[in-house]
Amino acid sequence: MSRINIIGAGLAGLSAAIHLAKADIPCSLFSLQISERSQSVLAEGGINGALDTMGEGDVVENHFNDTMKGGVFMADPNAVENLTHGAPEILRWLESIGVPFNMENGNIILRNFGGQKKKRTAYAKSSTGKIIMSAVIDEARKYEAKGLIKRYPHHEFIRLILDGDKCTGARIRDCYTGKMYDYSGAVILCSGGMNGIFPGKTTGTTQNSGDVTATVFSQGVILGNPEMIQYHPTTIGISGKRCLVTEAARGEGGRLYIERNGQKWYFMEEKYPELKNLMPRDVVAREMFFVRRQPDCGDRVYLDMTGLDESVWSRKLSDLREELIKYLNSDPKTVPIHVEEGIHYFMGGIDTDEYHRTNIKDLYAAGECTCQYHGANRLGGNSMLGALFGGKKSAETVISCQYDLSGDEYIPVSEYEPLAEIALPVLIEKISGILLSGLGIVRNKAMLENALGNLSSLRKEREYNHREINRFALAEAMLRGALERRESRGAHYREDYPEKDESYRKTTVARINNGSADISFRTLAERRSHESNS
Ligand code: FUM
Repeated sequence: MSRINIIGAGLAGLSAAIHLAKADIPCSLFSLQISERSQSVLAEGGINGALDTMGEGDVVENHFNDTMKGGVFMADPNAVENLTHGAPEILRWLESIGVPFNMENGNIILRNFGGQKKKRTAYAKSSTGKIIMSAVIDEARKYEAKGLIKRYPHHEFIRLILDGDKCTGARIRDCYTGKMYDYSGAVILCSGGMNGIFPGKTTGTTQNSGDVTATVFSQGVILGNPEMIQYHPTTIGISGKRCLVTEAARGEGGRLYIERNGQKWYFMEEKYPELKNLMPRDVVAREMFFVRRQPDCGDRVYLDMTGLDESVWSRKLSDLREELIKYLNSDPKTVPIHVEEGIHYFMGGIDTDEYHRTNIKDLYAAGECTCQYHGANRLGGNSMLGALFGGKKSAETVISCQYDLSGDEYIPVSEYEPLAEIALPVLIEKISGILLSGLGIVRNKAMLENALGNLSSLRKEREYNHREINRFALAEAMLRGALERRESRGAHYREDYPEKDESYRKTTVARINNGSADISFRTLAERRSHESNS
């Protein structure tokens, strides 16, 4: 019997699997790593939902408005409406499967997070991702025992199996034996962000190599908003990696400052008196970038948590403190820490509608590999929500399709598979350098054209394998998207077009065309009229 094939076993993949299994639909989860090592476990600060347990009169509409505003009105409003309305149920479900959120008098405590005027972020100290993941894995095991979920860790997605514009399965390689199999059935891509294209510059795991997105893009899957990359304001460099200092540190009272004329300048508090240090991440990261360049300022921004109460450290941020002491050999309770912006999240990715359908029939996507929920900038706390809710929603769409699963589960592959070759690390580094030269916090035409020129020269240097060629196409889509979007919006700041331009309140659409990335722009209304005609 065939099964639904889920690529990726982080929170989005597990959520899709559990919701399929609950409806008695068998599925397989393929992933390079075990779930315990997925990106989702790195999420620290929390997950959003308008539960209003803090008596602030919060309602779902506020969550919707903050998410739309935070994403500078580029997210799909229908999708965001589903997400924000579904959030309280997701939190209750997590509670019901045993997630030990911080509680008070039997209620989930909610904390402040960036870009939100109400306390809306549920958390388990500052290891929320790890703790949610343990409970969700435990839940998946119930269905594994019944044979409804099969987990295949150390299995690599090679490519989609397509029949015209229909997806009929996925080619998968067992990393231990090297053998390949064609698994038949509909596919849900839950392959996460593209952190691996920026080794050393990202808070995310480089196991999320970006290869799945690059491969499916080259196979004809449309990408949305590939230029929208989130820089998290507070990261620290450790052993060649950017480590996250959770936004919860600012949510609980941490303050950013820079030395100006020998004095501490709490620039966010002065410039943004309402939300202060909790402005959306794009704004905070950009301000940090600019204050460091002021002639009267130093070149380091610090996060000052020395004013936090002992109870905040012990009850809410104990794991963060422990980590910082271990890695920096300095106690954040007494010494401010030097923080820098680091690549954290990809708002852009596989173009999906509110039902998580892609432009290819029977191919769905959920989680960070998609683009519909966060527009030009994601709010902290909406990422695990997007993954868990997106997994559920994509499963519901699949369930509604009533697929016939009577065929064979898989057939072994005997032919040579060019995509089984790897992209050389030295090439990954070179492409990363080129991307960073164009896709920083501040961008302009010359930077982007120069980066595209360098990418094209590198492309001509030698023969590349298929996987490497796909990475070139993905990199081109990101750079071209940024070049064509002649405005500033959210995480995309063009110093040559510093204002928002409403004619660009559209999805950037990237399509493969003869191996190159074509860019166009599409309004949501255009997408919906296309869907109703197809
Ligand atoms: O800062 C953080 O804890 C990150 C949370 C998020 O990206 O949602």
